[in-house]
Amino acid sequence: MRISEDQLASFSSTDFHIRSLDLLRERFSKHNLNFEQVIRKIQEFQIAIPSAALGNGKAKNKKSRTGGEPRNLNEKLEDIGLLQQLTCKTNSVSVYIPWDMPEDYKEVKDLANELNLEFDTMNSTSSQDQNQKEYAKLGSLGNPNKAIREEAIAHNEEVINIGKKLGSRGLTVWMADGSNFPGQAKFRSTLGWTEESLREIYEFMPSDWDLMLEYKPYEPNCYHTVVPDWGTSSMLAKRLGARAKVLVDLGNHLPKTNIEQIVATLMYQNLLAGFHFNDSKYGDDDLNPSSVKPYQLFLIFCELIGGDQDGAQAWDSISWMIDASYNTQDPLVDLIQALEAITIAYTKAMLVDRKKLQECQQNGEGSQAQEILQMAYLTDVRPLVCEARVRAGGVAEPLEAYRILMIRNKLVHERGVKSYNSIF
Ligand code: CU
Repeated sequence: MRISEDQLASFSSTDFHIRSLDLLRERFSKHNLNFEQVIRKIQEFQIAIPSAALGNGKAKNKKSRTGGEPRNLNEKLEDIGLLQQLTCKTNSVSVYIPWDMPEDYKEVKDLANELNLEFDTMNSTSSQDQNQKEYAKLGSLGNPNKAIREEAIAHNEEVINIGKKLGSRGLTVWMADGSNFPGQAKFRSTLGWTEESLREIYEFMPSDWDLMLEYKPYEPNCYHTVVPDWGTSSMLAKRLGARAKVLVDLGNHLPKTNIEQIVATLMYQNLLAGFHFNDSKYGDDDLNPSSVKPYQLFLIFCELIGGDQDGAQAWDSISWMIDASYNTQDPLVDLIQALEAITIAYTKAMLVDRKKLQECQQNGEGSQAQEILQMAYLTDVRPLVCEARVRAGGVAEPLEAYRILMIRNKLVHERGVKSYNSIF
């Protein structure tokens, strides 16, 4: 389904929005901030939607069903098209294989064109999937059994071939490889096999593709994971070549890890591939971005902006994707919230007085640095995000519009109560 132009136009900005925006404008001129530039940057910032997020739950979370869920990749594209119409915040899809195999490439590409959507990085997920049972025991690319490693390499190559047909330009690799008992796996060997396998995949990629290597400390294995942290991921990326970089999934860290520092360190080496946005309370919870730690996300964006401005790594070389798992709520509602939360964190980070902050850093001035950061963080930037969206053709309040237009009801009517992608 599509929302008509008339329906979109029926949601106009309120007087309250206009007054709030005027106040922010006043504040911008007082602090020498460029109002129009911030609006433009918000509009340019686009976040990819993973094909796996449009239904309830990924492979590890099978929970209640919302109804009207997309049954195939085409319907997933249609859902992203709806998100884009409302929010103007997402212009691409990141496809997971084998979960979202395209059936008819021409049809999928035509539909993406029609919806103005691009194909972001491909994901060659190697979790304990119904098609990949052998991986569950001792891993995929680092499995001691050569035949299984070859099967895993072939799977990645197939994903690259699918991505080439779709027009994607990158591959994200996350491996569930590891072990559950001390002594069960030889650390150096599994790492060596993983590197060898990754090299084959890297060399198979077209020359204009990037390889993004994700890391994660534990789960599904509880004792050891082959690529547990950013250090191991960086080491492998450096050994593979300049087109391999490290992907940061916010949930893939042990509690209390200083993720903003990891981001800065990766940018220092021009090794940051991109993000999987989510939030976590305990581990890889895949909660909605900013639902638990909004300040952390703000601090991460402060580092991203700083790294770009200092010339460490260009903003445009970094890719952005949501990687949350929607178990019991309407995934489209959660995705609208996610897009909004990420954009708010980015916008707040743009308000930081970097010159003053740098002076504090030069003098090791802690409390004043805190004040500068809080001044930006505590600013209600929602009118700015709203203004950027409305000027781009979206609606002022996407969640309200989604509910008023009864989009989920219409999708249930169109696709049925028990509709979902059969792979889950
Ligand atoms: Cu991820």
